[in-house]
Amino acid sequence: MTRTVVLAGASGYGSTYLREIAELEAQGAVRLLGVCDLRPLDAYADRQFGDRPFDTRLDRLLATTHPDLAIVATPIHTHLPLGRQVLDADCHLLLEKPPVPSAAEWRELVTLARHKGLSCQVGFQSLGSGAYVRLAELMAAGELGEIRGIGCYGAWSRDATYYQRADWAGRRELHGVPVADGALTNPFAHAVVTALALDRSTGWDDITTMEAELLRVRDIQVDDTSCLRLRTGRDTVITIAVTLAAGTPTEPVIVVHGTRRRAELHYTRDLLVVDGQPEHHSRTSPLENLLAHLDDGVPLQCDITACGAFTRVLEHVNATSAPRLISERWLTNDGDGPQGRIRIPGVEQAVRASAEQLATFAELAEPWAV
Ligand SMILES: NC(=O)c1ccc[n+]([C@@H]2O[C@H](COP(=O)([O-])OP(=O)(O)OC[C@H]3O[C@@H](n4cnc5c(N)ncnc54)[C@H](O)[C@@H]3O)[C@@H](O)[C@H]2O)c1
Repeated sequence: MTRTVVLAGASGYGSTYLREIAELEAQGAVRLLGVCDLRPLDAYADRQFGDRPFDTRLDRLLATTHPDLAIVATPIHTHLPLGRQVLDADCHLLLEKPPVPSAAEWRELVTLARHKGLSCQVGFQSLGSGAYVRLAELMAAGELGEIRGIGCYGAWSRDATYYQRADWAGRRELHGVPVADGALTNPFAHAVVTALALDRSTGWDDITTMEAELLRVRDIQVDDTSCLRLRTGRDTVITIAVTLAAGTPTEPVIVVHGTRRRAELHYTRDLLVVDGQPEHHSRTSPLENLLAHLDDGVPLQCDITACGAFTRVLEHVNATSAPRLISERWLTNDGDGPQGRIRIPGVEQAVRASAEQLATFAELAEPWAV
């Protein structure tokens, strides 16, 4: 069945949706009825879709096009107002991650979607990886033994332009509205949500304790180097240690420590390694999964209702005392200007050690963290 769709947010991450929509249109799975953005379409989007309706207001576009579903790939603090417009227009919603920057907003969307009987998928694409599905099955079947803990580590690098590209980048709030664009809550949000999902601890009440060490190397409101440790109602300890100030960036890994076996999920690469044996998997995108859900009742990979524990983490991290600036003596500058990068020598080893030992940076006595 061909589903009609509109897209809000056509540049930035939204451009990946435009490419996917073009592929799905070629297969007859969707038809794009229109695009909403505050800025004109870029050259690719204009060539591909310039003949479709374009509007700077989503509510107006929804009222004139009546799509089956709408994709919202706009900045985080616009997710609630735009998501509300989609559900109010009786359309299913695919909302980019992180879904919303506060618990109150999450509850409002959950309630509205339920009241309207509409689907609301969140674009956490890691949950559509076959590697994640396989690992979740192994854990549920007890194949890893008892789970002693789950440790995630990630080491990426961002230059100054990353924080200059948009007014909401690197902010906890903008004009009094929460944004939550920290390393834990945005770039590495997939690590948080995937670890919680592997533990089957996705509900608001599934977290019993939480502690966060939030640090930064730049003049930003949010953390760019962080360690979160939480305990779930299943008594699982989960740590997430990440940085955007790595000298040697590597893709993030979720390590599941079982009493019988050890698994590593490389969620950006659809790779699962169990006791050293690699398995490569494919993935189903959030949009493909939503279409299968609407057509055949396939469960959603990431229903908004399953973002309770994640939103609790997000709200906790965004409300914890402001991230501490790491002293310059522990930092190295690689270049100045827009492409300039700041790195913390040794941070790659620190995040990895955290995941192996389920320890915080302070417990590891990292000098820049204490
Ligand atoms: N799933 C992923 O891996 C992934 C990766 C990157 C970003 N994201 C998410 O995608 C979303 C967008 O991020 P981005 O970096 O592309 O943001 P961005 O600031 O580049 O904005 C994206 C687009 O939205 C438009 N826009 C802004 N406000 C709007 C409004 N009120 N109505 C209509 N259009 C509006 C902008 O003009 C821009 O074209 C965020 O939620 C982000 O966290 C997800």
